[in-house]
Amino acid sequence: MKLQDSSLLRRSSPLTVVLDGPDRVSITSPLGVFEFGREVMPLLAMFAGEMSMGAAMERLQLANSREWEASAEVLRQMLESGVLLPGVGSLTESAGVGFGDPEVHCRMLADRTRTNAYIQALQTLVVPGEVVLDLGTGSGVLAAAAARAGARKVYAVEQGPAAEWAERVMLSNKLDSQVEVIRGWSESLSLPEPVDVVVSETLGNQPFEEGILASLADAGRRLTRPGARFIPSAIELLAFLVQTPDSVQEDYGLDLSCLSEWSEQAGQRRGLAEPQQVRDWTFLAQEVALARVQSPWDGVWEGETSLQIDQEGRVDAVVMAFRAELSPENTISTCPFEASRDCHWSNPVYWLAHPIEVRPGQILRLHWDLRRNAQAVRLEG
Ligand SMILES: C[S@@+](CC[C@H](N)C(=O)[O-])C[C@H]1O[C@@H](n2cnc3c(N)ncnc32)[C@H](O)[C@@H]1O
Repeated sequence: MKLQDSSLLRRSSPLTVVLDGPDRVSITSPLGVFEFGREVMPLLAMFAGEMSMGAAMERLQLANSREWEASAEVLRQMLESGVLLPGVGSLTESAGVGFGDPEVHCRMLADRTRTNAYIQALQTLVVPGEVVLDLGTGSGVLAAAAARAGARKVYAVEQGPAAEWAERVMLSNKLDSQVEVIRGWSESLSLPEPVDVVVSETLGNQPFEEGILASLADAGRRLTRPGARFIPSAIELLAFLVQTPDSVQEDYGLDLSCLSEWSEQAGQRRGLAEPQQVRDWTFLAQEVALARVQSPWDGVWEGETSLQIDQEGRVDAVVMAFRAELSPENTISTCPFEASRDCHWSNPVYWLAHPIEVRPGQILRLHWDLRRNAQAVRLEG
């Protein structure tokens, strides 16, 4: 297996790990006994759950490309010796990436539609005296809202440096006796009491790519009371078939057609576009729901869906979006015609290597695969 940033890996089981000396670790995997240096230890801990090589490297906070190469080499050896196994397609690997940057949190707070919808849902759903888990608290804004909605106790969990700032937000707002900020991944956490409500805004552009399904499923199994409520209560993944504006080659007077061959060789192109921009594209079929997920938050990786064309045109891309139901009155949406003007999410756009000419009434089949190594859609007429 060729290792790249998106390669998913996980620790093999069973493993026996013995410290042989100050810098020698002997690991017995299903393939035999192998010797490593001490640097294998943080990597072993990191891959207790499935994670991509890129996310692991980011967490190691390597100083330079030489350190990066050295760690990549250890990962290759761990894989060859059966200490690590290729992952099966969890999407948790992009969780946490970029969230060490305060700018990212400011952008999310500036999305007032998103933040207010969550706050209103907390005001509706939290019964005074209840215990809340804010999974991925970031700046702490939702944990604070849960406390103000009357929660007796809020556990605000954050894996990244934002945890420190969330703590300061609680102090500045005199909420520190109600809100306990815990630094770490929710999956590695145990709480002193089960919670009544789990709130989590760990929604990516492709809603599941920040690992929300795996973390909510884990919280539901280990950290909640029977009958606990989740905010969001359901997430719907949607797709739209579109014709994008005419290709740039007319604009530049160049024959650029060979570039689509290059794209094809490079694998499917996935880009992002603002919902406001996508709104101006031509929609050739009604939206189609690819998946609707709710507790117990089973992972969805792939599927096949039929769609009926209702306008003549050329499908050259599939756009994805989501709706997250936060409470009976509050839903947030990144659908091009529903997204708010301040929406900070973008729509994933999957470009087709071979656009398809379509006519009204035609049925197409859309196969989609969200695993990080695949991240692809295929459309057949
Ligand atoms: C999209 S931000 C939202 C932050 C904040 N809740 C808000 O609404 O503004 C998600 C945050 O969750 C954190 N996160 C994601 N998955 C996590 C997990 N499983 N455990 C702990 N933190 C997590 C990320 O580091 C990031 O800071």
